[in-house]
Amino acid sequence: MDRNEQKTLLKAQQGELDAVLMYNALADTVKSRSDAEAFRRLAAEEGKHAAVFRGLTDQALKPKKTLAILLPLLYRVMGRKRLYPLIAKFEYGAVDTYAPVAAKYPAVESVKGDEKRHGDTVMSLLKE
Ligand SMILES: [Fe+2]
Repeated sequence: MDRNEQKTLLKAQQGELDAVLMYNALADTVKSRSDAEAFRRLAAEEGKHAAVFRGLTDQALKPKKTLAILLPLLYRVMGRKRLYPLIAKFEYGAVDTYAPVAAKYPAVESVKGDEKRHGDTVMSLLKE
């Protein structure tokens, strides 16, 4: 793999690791028990995604806490009705980011599909 690809995959791996902390922090914060359960499941899946990218980059990275600090604050300030669509947008954005990667690395195809589903899951919480 060339240096640009390696960079893209490392960025993806970092994003997945950070998302694990972010979703767990949200799960600790949200008032709704069903929201918390959904975020725990998403955190677990992001952990599996990080492992997929780790398998491709063969590098261990450390998760960064920035989003795990920021999102609970935003939840308190904005409320779930305004925050969850932003999270969904973030997930749908990952679908686009991963599309060219998945074309070359088939393992990323199911990751890409999961991000679409994550966006749908987060939006569906607002319908409950
Ligand atoms: Fe993910």
